[in-house]
Order: sequence, then structure tokens, then C-alpha cells
Amino acid sequence: MNEVSGKLETSQLANVPEHVAIIMDGNGRWAKERGLPRLKGHEEGAQSVRAVLRAAKKAQVNYLTLYAFSTENWVRPEEEVQGLMNLLSIFMDRYKNDLLKNKIRLRVMGQIERLPQKVQKKLAKLMEETARDYEYTLILALSYGSRLEIAEAAKAIARKAAAGELDPEAVTEETVAQHLYLPDVPDPELMIRTSGELRLSNFLLWQLSYAELYVTDTYWPDFREEQFFQALEAFNQRGRRYGGVKNK
Ligand code: IPE
Ligand code: IPE
Ligand code: MG
Repeated sequence: MNEVSGKLETSQLANVPEHVAIIMDGNGRWAKERGLPRLKGHEEGAQSVRAVLRAAKKAQVNYLTLYAFSTENWVRPEEEVQGLMNLLSIFMDRYKNDLLKNKIRLRVMGQIERLPQKVQKKLAKLMEETARDYEYTLILALSYGSRLEIAEAAKAIARKAAAGELDPEAVTEETVAQHLYLPDVPDPELMIRTSGELRLSNFLLWQLSYAELYVTDTYWPDFREEQFFQALEAFNQRGRRYGGVKNK
């Protein structure tokens, strides 16, 4: 089975993660290597989103979180930021039927209020439409930063404490988790980063505490179904211990 790496029947996987999170990186370098503008890399990356969405459904991964735009990405040239926002808009128009047909619910996490009004409206509409009947969930992290998310949670908890609604002594890990953007979503078991960088770049610091990390040199525009299945396969080889001594 191992030699058919990436082409395996996903039904052969003993252990499919319920939630996979991905740092989609390397669009710019993909374009640069081809002498193309960075935006072309982002466009091709959008095709990978579609491919990975399908692959995730095929493998029965219930939640897929994609890091699409970070709080730090706002410092990029205006043209690129606008291009990315445009692509997001196009993505929603183009993939709306895909999402509905495949029963995929769209959710978002991040500073949604910072996105262009037009994008916000489209997101709200699509989230509402896809929430009616769904089996899978796609979460887009947009203008997302994990430190900000945690700071906001701290603020909400502090407010409740100040209002006398919450005893500070009663604050636990669960309290913090309950005040993050999507408290009902289980933590990712697998985090994939493309393009070889060995860092988290402010992505899901709390939620990834015990996730398995998988980094591939493949640039995001080249990351498709086969590469996704390879990552799932690698996940299956890991012995997760959670601080204990039990081996798999
Ligand atoms: C990831 O690709 C997409 C976003 C961050 C929006 P990059 O644009 O970061 O590509 P590189 O890292 O410059 O190659
Ligand atoms: C992380 O990629 C953010 C997204 C994929 C949206 P970056 O390219 O922005 O991260 P750094 O700059 O390499 O840390
Ligand atoms: Mg990058």
C-alpha cells in the first residue's frame, strides 16, 4: 500500500483526521519561478483550494481550515491585497454551486469587519445559504491572527469578570477555548504547511497545541489531491502520545 503513496484508497486509512488546517504558502514563489506576476500564483492557488476541498470530502475530513489572509498580510502592496480580495470574491461566485452540491458549509474566522464591504456581504450570504444543509465545513481564516484571537478572548473574559458574571478563579482552559472565534469546532489534528517554511506565522496557536505538523516543499499552487492524500498518509504513520508513553 505504501508504494502507491498519494493514490491510495482513502478508505484504507485507519485514522482520518476530523479537522485539517492548512497554511497555503508559496503562491508568490510559484509565480516568480515562472516569470509571472504574484497574482497569477494566487489565481492558481485558488484552483488548489478547489482540488483540496474535493479531496477532503473524499477522505471524509469533516473540517478544513484554510489560512487565506493573515492580519500581517495587510502590509503587502495595495495591488496585491486588492487582487487577493478580488479573488476571494470570484472564488465565492464560482464555487458557490460546488459548496452547495457537496454539502459544504462555509464559515470564517478573523477580523471580517476589515474586509471590503462587498466581500463581507458575499461572505454573509454564502455562509447563510450553505448553513442550511451540510455535512462538511470549510473555514476560511481571513484577516486572521492567533494572538489577536487570544487577546480578544481575554478581553471578553475580563469583561464578564468585571461585570460580575464570571469568577476569575473559575477561568480554565475550557473558558479560554469557549471565547475563541469558533468554540464549537474541534481542534485540528493535522496542520499542513506548503512551501517548506518551518513556522506557524500566527496561525491557530491555541488550537494547534497537539496537532501533528506536516510541512512539504511543494508550493501551494502545486498542492492538489495527491499531495493532500500524502499528508493524510503521513499523519497515519505518526504515533500520537499527548505527553504520555503509549505508542500506537
Ligand atoms: C500564500 O502565498 C498566500 C498568502 C499569504 C495570501 P504567498 O503570497 O505568501 O507566497 P510566497 O510566500 O511569497 O511565495
Ligand atoms: C502565512 O503566509 C499566511 C497565509 C498563508 C495566509 P505568509 O507568507 O504571510 O507567512 P510568512 O510571512 O512567511 O511568515
Ligand atoms: Mg508566503
